[in-house]
Amino acid sequence: MDISQVSALFSSIIGARNVITGAQLALRNTGYCAASYDGGVLLTPGSAQEVSEICRLAAEHGLAIVPQGGLTGLVQGTATAPGQVALSLEKMTRILEFDPMQGIVTAEAGVTLQQVIDVAEPHGLAPGIDLPSRGSCTLGGIVSTNAGGIQAIRYGMARDNILGLEAVLADGTLLDMNNTLLKNNAGYDLKQLFVGSEGTLGVITKATLRLHSRPSSVQTALIGCDSTEQLFDVLARARRAFGGNLLSFEAMWPEFFTEITTHLNNSMMSPHCGIYGVIETGQWGDAEHEGALTAFLGQCFEDDLLQDGVVAQSEAQRRTIWQLREDADLIESRSGPCLSYDVGLRLSDIPNYVERLQVRIASDCPGVTCYVFGHMGDGNLHIMAGPARDPARHAAIDGAVYGVLQQFTGTTVSAEHGIGLEKRTHLPLSRPMATLAAMRQLKTAFDPQSTLNPAKVFDQLA
Ligand code: LAC
Ligand code: ZN
Repeated sequence: MDISQVSALFSSIIGARNVITGAQLALRNTGYCAASYDGGVLLTPGSAQEVSEICRLAAEHGLAIVPQGGLTGLVQGTATAPGQVALSLEKMTRILEFDPMQGIVTAEAGVTLQQVIDVAEPHGLAPGIDLPSRGSCTLGGIVSTNAGGIQAIRYGMARDNILGLEAVLADGTLLDMNNTLLKNNAGYDLKQLFVGSEGTLGVITKATLRLHSRPSSVQTALIGCDSTEQLFDVLARARRAFGGNLLSFEAMWPEFFTEITTHLNNSMMSPHCGIYGVIETGQWGDAEHEGALTAFLGQCFEDDLLQDGVVAQSEAQRRTIWQLREDADLIESRSGPCLSYDVGLRLSDIPNYVERLQVRIASDCPGVTCYVFGHMGDGNLHIMAGPARDPARHAAIDGAVYGVLQQFTGTTVSAEHGIGLEKRTHLPLSRPMATLAAMRQLKTAFDPQSTLNPAKVFDQLA
């Protein structure tokens, strides 16, 4: 089928204005995946019923459907190839139910995380998930990638915060797995199969999120330590001191920190530390909190764990601190295109991993810099490595990042970003053969013709 035939087919369901091709498609932002629209057709249905009819028709004609949310993914999960059809949930942006008493929100898949935050906030509630891409990432994308983010240390990942779902299967079946109860053990919890399946088992059309009480006050600090081991000591103490009130514990290695602070012209902290951290704590109720983080850090200073530390004195300062950690894109604007990694390790292995990686990159990939940062409290490191323009260099950097990772046990090639196309050849490093075979069986059971986001997660050649 050529593009005009595909367009005509789906126009019959959603109308020609919701089938985008040609120049109109070329004008759109592809997000973090340059190949998002390479298939040449984008569908923008307005309801789950329409998604269902699209999937049914696509299956009938053997056409592949690639579900898309806010296009903020970093593993090419939204890439389309010629002959494949992109399906964006962007027109499905209704908040369907908000129950502050129950602490739940049910919304269509195209709602952004920021929209959920805005609905919940006036009622003293917040989603337990928070990500730097909150303004554009969508509920459907969060669910299908099991997003983690900057508060996973406190609230877990997406799957820990999703109570119910609705998804459309490859044959068009609309699967109602919605639920608004905290407890519901009526049979298998099927929704969890779809969380983190990256659009390969079904298209998420609706989700119910569990909301949490917003802290009445939040304290945020930027800290600098001599060594990663010292930062770990601070983390261990913070866990003891703040328990469940510890909301975030992030890290930035010097290459990353220096690059970002230079770009932002930020001189908040000594540029001579061995590692930097962002620590955020919350307080609920009326209890005095203002000085708690300052006192905690003061003790860390006295015990020689800290080289430098600044506690935000205003919301503006808090935003400035978070900007240092969240604006990782600035690295690329200064250093050229980078490859992005998302590995997970046991905390005790992190210092050795980063050290060995830097040595390996210096020897195998001359001219490449590794910018390391991430969710330290979760053992989740992001590595941006670049400049990386050609495939040979890509292979060498992959070899270094994953080769060194294999020297440790209990690791993952993807802690939170998922597999997509980008990491599928490395998936076997993190999952044994029998487990991979079970995953494939599941895929075949749900999508026997492989029309839903084909070739993602699994390398079809394997
Ligand atoms: C972050 C994204 C890259 O943590 O996961 O900034
Ligand atoms: Zn992250």
